[in-house]
Amino acid sequence: MPVTPTLDADVLRRQDPEVADLLLGELDRQSSTLQLIAAENFTSPAVLAALGSPLANKYAEGYPGARHHGGCEIVDAVERLAVERAKTLFGAQHANVQPHSGSSAVLAAYAALLRPGDTVLALGLPHGGHLTHGSPANFSGRWFDFVAYGVDAETGLVDRDQVHSLARAHRPKAIVCGSIAHPRHLDYAFFREVADEVGAYLVADAAHPIGLVAGGAAPSPVPYADVVCATTHKVLRGPRGGMILCGAELAERVDRAVFPFTQGGAQMHTVAAKAVAFGEAATAEFAGYARRVVANARVLAAGLAAEGLTVVSGGTDTHLIVADPAPLGVDGRTARDRLAAAGMVLDCCALPYGDARGLRLGTAAVTTQGMGEAEMARIAALMAVVLRGAPAGKEAGARAREEVRELAGAFPPYPG
Ligand SMILES: Cc1ncc(COP(=O)(O)O)c(C=O)c1O
Repeated sequence: MPVTPTLDADVLRRQDPEVADLLLGELDRQSSTLQLIAAENFTSPAVLAALGSPLANKYAEGYPGARHHGGCEIVDAVERLAVERAKTLFGAQHANVQPHSGSSAVLAAYAALLRPGDTVLALGLPHGGHLTHGSPANFSGRWFDFVAYGVDAETGLVDRDQVHSLARAHRPKAIVCGSIAHPRHLDYAFFREVADEVGAYLVADAAHPIGLVAGGAAPSPVPYADVVCATTHKVLRGPRGGMILCGAELAERVDRAVFPFTQGGAQMHTVAAKAVAFGEAATAEFAGYARRVVANARVLAAGLAAEGLTVVSGGTDTHLIVADPAPLGVDGRTARDRLAAAGMVLDCCALPYGDARGLRLGTAAVTTQGMGEAEMARIAALMAVVLRGAPAGKEAGARAREEVRELAGAFPPYPG
């Protein structure tokens, strides 16, 4: 099946072979290596078709029925459809599908609820918080007064006592729950209770688990959080983008915080692609996919533990695994580079203890390709061979690269 209508028609190749070569080179890279980055996935050809559609040409500042531009009849219908599908999929009273990314969604959530200088309690960056959760390099750390809670060094789970005591001591205006690396389900009811006790808003940054929520494979933050921020491109398998869900009482504030406060015109081709992805995510097939993502992650985590890596929290409830390769005699950065050279692409991340870095990986993309538990066991074994670099160092790496190529080749992301 052609990947995009543009490449199919060969239009790009005829006009600009240099860019066409780069795009096809990336398709080849994605098809011949294993995409184990926890935040990545393969969108469907239908999502790609919406992204490459004439909606990319349309300016649409504002919201359906209240735009600053003419000619918005069709894109209004598209956005209404995306909003209705998101509301139904997640059981939310209100959805804003315009945020350009997960970070834009969080920025808008803060803009809707906070004033500069307000105190916010969030997971610290060394413990898995995102840049938008108070990094000094990000608007969040510069404009708000962030207080960080952490995860327990032993269990890797959220330190609830600390959340409680910091909330009581600092009386934040908002509490953020959500992480780039937490492999376990968050207890949203707990966070709601603490927020209520200290009179704080609860913001759930569900960028990672939202696709599992859509497929019924993870608990939903929607009944608990005042505002839920999310990305549409991770397990959810949509286009790169963000989304905000909230109750009816915050709808207007959230909408105004997205446009005109933090964004201009919505990217209507992306909004259309989000509508397609929400439609796909509402199917029984997607629920099966979400279950398989978690089952695969559990097998992969168990395989890595059996090979001697330390798996943070002892396993996973989600698509995401954090593992420390130190017991195999290799640090996180070296491990990531060695694995990349063998065609296994994943990230480094902070560990809940010490300064060493670990590995963060996920099963969303390989599961979309159709890989199952047998393949996860094989990937764990391949990773261990590469990380040990033994018995024959480079030779073992080259052999692993060939095996990875063969494995990836058997499960093409875009067959045909
Ligand atoms: C928890 C969390 N919040 C926000 C983001 C930001 O998303 P984006 O990269 O689309 O801005 C991410 C991305 O991985 C994330 O994991």
